[in-house]
Amino acid sequence: MSKLCQSACKAARSLLSATAAASSPRTSLLAEGRNAALATLTNLGRKTLPTAYAYSYHHNSSAAAAGWLAAIPAAVYVLQDQEAHAAEMERTFIAIKPDGVQRGLISEILSRFERKGFKLVAIKLVVPSKEFAQKHYHDLKDRPFFNGLCDFLSSGPVLAMVWEGEGVIKYGRKLIGATDPQKSEPGTIRGDLAVVVGRNIIHGSDGPETAKAEIGLWFEPRELVSYTSNEEKWIYGVN
Ligand code: RTP
Ligand code: MG
Repeated sequence: MSKLCQSACKAARSLLSATAAASSPRTSLLAEGRNAALATLTNLGRKTLPTAYAYSYHHNSSAAAAGWLAAIPAAVYVLQDQEAHAAEMERTFIAIKPDGVQRGLISEILSRFERKGFKLVAIKLVVPSKEFAQKHYHDLKDRPFFNGLCDFLSSGPVLAMVWEGEGVIKYGRKLIGATDPQKSEPGTIRGDLAVVVGRNIIHGSDGPETAKAEIGLWFEPRELVSYTSNEEKWIYGVN
């Protein structure tokens, strides 16, 4: 976005927060501004009059200012809405275990999360130490397979990731399928791509608490990238 637009947006943002605090409900303004703003954002690079300006002009001629200014508040609503949306978004930790990496299944697995509409916000390939694997699977320390499981997780490269989206923790587990691939439904990652429980190729956090803890274990906060994907306006919405 150009410097001009940035400062105009900033000005409009202050104006809007004052307006919202003083009077009309934010939701109705947001609803009115949304369509205009979407058009505005896609027109930001053009020299022609944005569609949003025409929209704003016809709906509230007394408030219509010259050129771009009329469209900017609407754009700001979308920016604010996106910020609020991003703040609400759930994140989960997903890892492709050494068997999935070695079998060349990275792109296959990533594409399933991507195609669903979830957003990748962190990714790295690491070989965890056994101590690290023990920390990751600490809740299973009393299980007979714990030692072998930690040996396996630390035996080679693991693709560690954080995915973001509405309901991503629970739905991520659905995409992954049941722990034992013999019981995973066809169509799930384990159901389609794995055969036995000891080589079930992928890990996913099982709840909000574990997601938070696992993201904190595997990633530094600065490794998590917050951004707005262009697709979001087509993935999320209420009618
Ligand atoms: P994950 O944590 O890896 O996403 O798997 P999960 O929640 O579906 O299952 P969990 O009970 O947390 O088990 C963690 C991993 O331990 C291995 N496992 N082996 N009977 C066995 O030999 C056995 N049971 C579990 C699997 O690799 C499982 O993913
Ligand atoms: Mg688990």
